[in-house]
Order: sequence, then C-alpha cells, then structure tokens
Amino acid sequence: MKDDPQIAGGPRIDTYVASPLTGDATDADRATIRRNTSVYVYEAPVRLWHWINAACILVLAVTGYLIGKPLPSVDIAEATHQFIFGYIRFAHFAAGMIMTVGFFGRIYWAFVGNHHARQMFKLPIHRKKWWKEVVQEIKWYAFLEKKPKKYVGHNPLAQIAMFFFMTVGLSFMIVTGFMLYAEGLGHGSWADVIFGPLRDAIGNSMVVHQIHRLGMWAIVLFIMIHIYAAIREDIMSRQSMVSTMISGTRTFKDDDPD
Ligand code: HEM
Ligand code: HEM
Repeated sequence: MKDDPQIAGGPRIDTYVASPLTGDATDADRATIRRNTSVYVYEAPVRLWHWINAACILVLAVTGYLIGKPLPSVDIAEATHQFIFGYIRFAHFAAGMIMTVGFFGRIYWAFVGNHHARQMFKLPIHRKKWWKEVVQEIKWYAFLEKKPKKYVGHNPLAQIAMFFFMTVGLSFMIVTGFMLYAEGLGHGSWADVIFGPLRDAIGNSMVVHQIHRLGMWAIVLFIMIHIYAAIREDIMSRQSMVSTMISGTRTFKDDDPD
C-alpha cells in the first residue's frame, strides 16, 4: 500500500514517465521521490534565533574568558590611549544584550509557533514512552543500538541537553550577567534595583563572577557535544540534521515508519 503514490499523496506515476529525472536517476530513485519524505519542522524565527544565539554565545565565551583572564597589556599605544579591554567588555555586553532580547523572542515564539518550538522548554517526564526513548538514544549514541529511531523534532536526549544547558543555562547566564552588569551601572540603577537583591542574597559579586564563569564552561561543554551530535547524526541517523536548522525541513532517508 505504501508503494501506491495515490494513497501516499504523491503525484501520478505517469507524470514521472512523461518527464523522467535526468542524471543517473534509477527506477528505485524515482520510486523514492514519489513518497513524501520531508516535514517542515523549525520555522524561520527558530532558525534565525538559533544562529544569532550561537554567534552571540561565541562572542560571549571568548570575551568572557578574556575578562576573567585578561591578556597581558598590548603595547600598541601609551596606556591611557588604548581601550582594548574596554572593547572586549563592550563586545561582551552588546552580545549579552542581543542574546537576552533573542531569548525573550524565543520564549514568545514558544507560545505562538508550532509545537516543535515548545520542545526546548519542557520535558515530558511523566511519559513512560519518552523515558524508553531516552534509554534507546543513550544506547544509540554509545554504539550499542544497531538501528536509530526517527524523530521529527528533537530526539529526547537532545531535548534534555537543550532544556538544561539552554533553557535553564541561558536563564542562569542572563540573571548572573545582569547581576554583574548592575555593579558597573552603579547603586540605584535599574539593573541594581532588579538584580541587586539577588546578588546580595548570593553573597558578593566575587561569588557571582565565579558561578557566571562556571556557567560558561557548562555551555562550552554543551556546544562541543551539540556540534558533534549534529554532525554525527547527519551522517549516521535516518534523517537530515544540519540542513534542517538551515532550511527548516527534516528529510528522511527511508520511508520505514518505525
Ligand atoms: C552564554 C552567555 C555568557 C557567557 C558564556 C559569559 C561569560 C562570562 C565570563 C567567563 C565572564 C568572566 C567572569 C570572571 O571570571 O570574572 C563574564 C563576565 C561578565 N559578564 Fe558574562 N557571559 C554570558 C552572558 C552575559 C550576559 C547576558 C550579561 C549581561 C549583560 C553578561 C555580563 C557580564 C558582566 C557584567 C561581566 C563582568 C565584567 C567585568 O567584571 O568587567 N554576561 N561573562
Ligand atoms: C554556540 C553554538 C550553538 C548553540 C548554543 C546551539 C544551540 C542550539 C539549540 C538551543 C537548539 C534547539 C533549537 C530550538 O529548539 O529552538 C539547537 C538545535 C540544533 N542545532 Fe545548534 N547550537 C549551536 C551551534 C550549532 C552548530 C555549529 C550546528 C551545526 C553544525 C548546530 C546544529 C543544530 C541542529 C542541526 C539543531 C537541530 C537538532 C534537532 O533537530 O534535533 N548548532 N542548537
């Protein structure tokens, strides 16, 4: 039944006979493209946010690292006439602001976008099936499973990573970042009014510096695993990955429903 293009919703066979594919297309290739193997998953705002957020985080991690471990002064001008550390801090704060606005935009899109846009913000821990798939994915990543499962949105393991490192992690970096920013703006500033009490409850800004920096390493860890997984799954899984975050469309490599 799944071979019947009419039932599968595809165009009629004779369309292909009248205008066959060129190149090295075989009959098997033609049979494959008659099936609908693509799903639109990540809408434009999600994709735009993903890449803007990735660029911001890259700038934040590099400049943040330098803020905590400054370079020896660069002898390009008399000390009072160079502003290198100022530019590093400026880049950090600018990227931090853009990332914060982007994160709020992403939260807004979780409400108005498609259901895949909500995946990053919640974990269906009450569903037994979801836990089974988590175990299945761990085994697949550990090379203990022969055949991977198909997912239209994020796989459950990716979902867990995105929830803890991004949804929780970015919120943590934004709150601790603005606690530190409040110190620069000064006592009584808007940032001090909002974030000052929390900073004081934590103790002092030295502790906030330390946990903000630790947060960076957690995010760096996520990025390394994330990029490895995205490229690995692009090659080894049964579906597209990297191109999905560019075009929004998930393409499946086979039409086996399971
Ligand atoms: C993924 C996001 C971020 C990363 C990886 C990051 C990383 C860092 C790191 C590593 C430091 C140095 C900490 C130290 O050792 O003292 C730092 C400092 C700082 N960050 Fe961030 N940060 C992020 C987001 C933000 C945001 C959203 C803001 C808000 C504007 C922010 C504001 C600051 C401020 C004010 C400082 C202290 C600057 C100074 O003392 O000169 N950060 N950040
Ligand atoms: C700083 C770097 C990066 C960060 C922080 C990051 C973060 C994220 C987040 C939060 C998502 C979930 C998107 C959502 O549901 O809204 C995601 C998905 C995705 N990212 Fe990244 N990303 C980064 C870099 C990259 C790079 C370099 C690639 C490509 C090699 C990539 C490929 C993907 C893919 C393919 C997905 C979708 C995964 C799926 O369909 O399950 N990311 N990323």
